[in-house]
Amino acid sequence: MLNTISSQRIFSGIQPSGKLTIANYLGALKPFVELQQSGAECIYCIVDLHAITVWQDPTELKHSTRLAAACFIASGIDVNKSILFNQSQVSAHAELAWIFNCVSRLGWLGRMTQFKEKAGSNRENSSVGLFVYPALMAADILAYHATHVPVGEDQKQHLELTRDIAIKFNNDFGVDFFPVIEPIIEGVATRIMSLRDGTKKMSKSDPSDLSRINLTDDKDTIVKKIRRAKTDSYPIPSHEAEISNRPEAKNLINLYAALSDTTRDSVMQQFGGKGFSEFKDQLAELAIECVSPVTHEVNRLMDDNTELDRILATGADKAAIIARPIVKKTYEIVGLLSQ
Ligand code: TYM
Repeated sequence: MLNTISSQRIFSGIQPSGKLTIANYLGALKPFVELQQSGAECIYCIVDLHAITVWQDPTELKHSTRLAAACFIASGIDVNKSILFNQSQVSAHAELAWIFNCVSRLGWLGRMTQFKEKAGSNRENSSVGLFVYPALMAADILAYHATHVPVGEDQKQHLELTRDIAIKFNNDFGVDFFPVIEPIIEGVATRIMSLRDGTKKMSKSDPSDLSRINLTDDKDTIVKKIRRAKTDSYPIPSHEAEISNRPEAKNLINLYAALSDTTRDSVMQQFGGKGFSEFKDQLAELAIECVSPVTHEVNRLMDDNTELDRILATGADKAAIIARPIVKKTYEIVGLLSQ
């Protein structure tokens, strides 16, 4: 897939709602860099407007936005090749989101599993922004007429909704204006699970820091977290058939496969039948090899806020040049009078 889309436009986003994790790296940042290297036109966005759909401390949010920018760059995003910016600096996102709020149906948004999970039993008290979150996501993507969207497995349903919104808009107004996007969800790292519970995804907003490896963790912390990662009392499985009811074992094997760019099968061939202790030591080494250079570069970049802010502002200017005529044309199609 990656080799065949060099003429297409890629868009993806990451929320600055905490520290980025190794799951964000393997499931998103690493594929983002590969797409950039394939020669595709790439637009990457730090989605601060999405982050505020749940309460964020304002000072923390500014810090997390700069930290996310540093993580993109430290992971290999070259701001001279790809566009990198934060969402709130380009008004097209909020403008198009309003149009899509009017195209989306309540029923569609009510079926979104992420809304149900995040709102939990406190649905009445969750923000309206959280409910319409996927319409803003559709606006992010379609404001650029992006064609391909690399994400982890958890975003699949949101991208199906983006397709539905594009199709309904085109039908409602009798146009062929918005593209029907293709998700890119590939490889063994599309759903990395929590180190504390193999049935829950690894998340930057999980209350337990032991559940994840942050891109800012030092070596000792990584070793400690992997040694304490939950496992069962059986040896490492040797075949796919032995893995199905062992979510924690499966997760660590997936993580190993993703970090060493190999398959689950070959990891099981290497470690099947052994205990977890030696495996965990080698896994920790791989994780350190992956995270350490990123952490080092993130720390260097975070020393210069002015430079990070300049990079994001330049990215926002470039993004706005693409999005402005698309929003203008959308307004015209809808019948809004504008200059
Ligand atoms: P966010 O910030 O939760 O996650 C950013 C990216 O990381 C992926 N990811 C994972 N991949 C593998 N295993 C995991 N445990 C894991 N956790 C997260 C996510 O799938 C995502 O690709 N709604 C989006 C942000 C967004 C967006 C967009 C994405 C806003 N607008 C437009 C694509 C296009 C989100 O909250 O991602």
